[in-house]
Amino acid sequence: MQRRERIETLIPDPASGRGEPASVELPSPTLVGQGPGLRVAAAGNFQVRLGSWDELGEEARRIRLEVFVAEQRVPLELEFDSMDPVSVHALASRPAGAALGTGRLLPDGHIGRIAVTREARGQRVGAALLLSLMEAARQRGHRQVELFAQVHAERFYQRFGFITVGPQFDDAGIAHVTMRASL
Ligand SMILES: CC(C)(COP(=O)(O)OP(=O)(O)OC[C@H]1O[C@@H](n2cnc3c(N)ncnc32)[C@H](O)[C@@H]1OP(=O)(O)O)[C@@H](O)C(=O)NCCC(=O)NCCS
Repeated sequence: MQRRERIETLIPDPASGRGEPASVELPSPTLVGQGPGLRVAAAGNFQVRLGSWDELGEEARRIRLEVFVAEQRVPLELEFDSMDPVSVHALASRPAGAALGTGRLLPDGHIGRIAVTREARGQRVGAALLLSLMEAARQRGHRQVELFAQVHAERFYQRFGFITVGPQFDDAGIAHVTMRASL
């Protein structure tokens, strides 16, 4: 078993979320803004920030422990890897501070680790996280993004333009497919 990510290009992106994460709230998941830091927020009562592992890792880690390790039984040693320090992380949270979801963008344009706490699902948090990471990829010059989708989430990603390429495979004991979207 492994916890797959593309690792062909590991050159850290100098623009990968260093600096102050900014934030904005909008009435619907809408892409806004330019430059490093954040650009998306979503309907309802939450915002999404983009930042480095140093900035957002503590809360992102808590969510990934809750969703992937505790709920989905991904082995702890596979969940956190050397890609975290070189990725751009997205963190959704309530104005009061409670973290709701997370995800990451690798330097090569691979999106991964999208997780929303069980209580927060169905409120467009996942959509806002995905859109903010796609926008971050676009602003870093990527023309397409790729991800490994758990098969139960394939239709979620299809809503945002992702198309399945290739057969199913096992990753950390969970069936996945590779999906790509043009930016
Ligand atoms: C998959 C996941 C990230 C979706 O997050 P979410 O916040 O519940 O999703 P949203 O509320 O943003 O949903 C956006 C849209 O996708 C749809 N959707 C959400 N999950 C879906 C699913 N599993 N299958 C099909 N459609 C789905 C919603 O109905 C919504 O549709 P709408 O635009 O018509 O309203 C969340 O269920 C999760 O974290 N699951 C556990 C971890 C996981 O499996 N992560 C994926 C790893 S590849």
